[in-house]
Amino acid sequence: MRIIVKDTEQELDMAAALEVTKQVIVKPDSVITFAGGQTTIGLHHEIVHLYQQWGVDYSKMKAFTLDEYVGLSPEDHKSVSFRIRNQVLDHLNIKSEHIHMPDGMAEDLDTACHEYSRLLDKHPVDLEVLGIGTNGHIGFNEPGTAFHLDTHVKDLESRTAEMKAGFFGSAAMVPKQGLTVGIKRIMMSKQILLLAKGESKAEIIKKALYGEITPEIPASVLQLHPFLTVILDKEAAKIL
Ligand code: GLP
Repeated sequence: MRIIVKDTEQELDMAAALEVTKQVIVKPDSVITFAGGQTTIGLHHEIVHLYQQWGVDYSKMKAFTLDEYVGLSPEDHKSVSFRIRNQVLDHLNIKSEHIHMPDGMAEDLDTACHEYSRLLDKHPVDLEVLGIGTNGHIGFNEPGTAFHLDTHVKDLESRTAEMKAGFFGSAAMVPKQGLTVGIKRIMMSKQILLLAKGESKAEIIKKALYGEITPEIPASVLQLHPFLTVILDKEAAKIL
């Protein structure tokens, strides 16, 4: 495990963007999975910035997203799909047929999950970007999720609803379920980049990186990954 601690959020964003950009420079047809949430917004902006500055070629890159709220369409500004397109993908020269996102509006969610997994079977992920929930979730793999699951639908915990309340207006307005790439699939990625910012993540970062490996702290499984890079700001690294 490689842990990088940066003094500011901006430095963290740049360090993470350099990791993603490096991946695409070294392997232009990389498969990269992007994560939503507040943590990755700055990363996405810096990726676009480097793309414009350096002229990085994203035409062969394939992009997947990690999760989606059940019931939100890709046109909904609060959906993960909309935000990731809007923050990063729409600003790169990526081909639209190279963008894949789980369908939170699917009538048959289980089939949608199965199809997403089959698509991922054909596109082994080179780099998986992850944030972390204050309860230790990665994607929408909430505490207690079995490590062996592939893409699946998960009921969101009240702690997750509280964490997302500011963004949705209130905890009650947060969708009740998420469709997520499972832990097994996350662990199959060749490299993982885990990002965390702020004091609210300090405790869970310590448990995830140095505590017991247990489904109760889903991110703790990342300790088993041979190529994990963790980039933290000073606050998130405070008690390490
Ligand atoms: C969410 C998402 C994750 C995200 C995490 C952290 O619920 N499903 O993909 O990484 O929570 O969110 P934030 O970055 O807003 O703290």
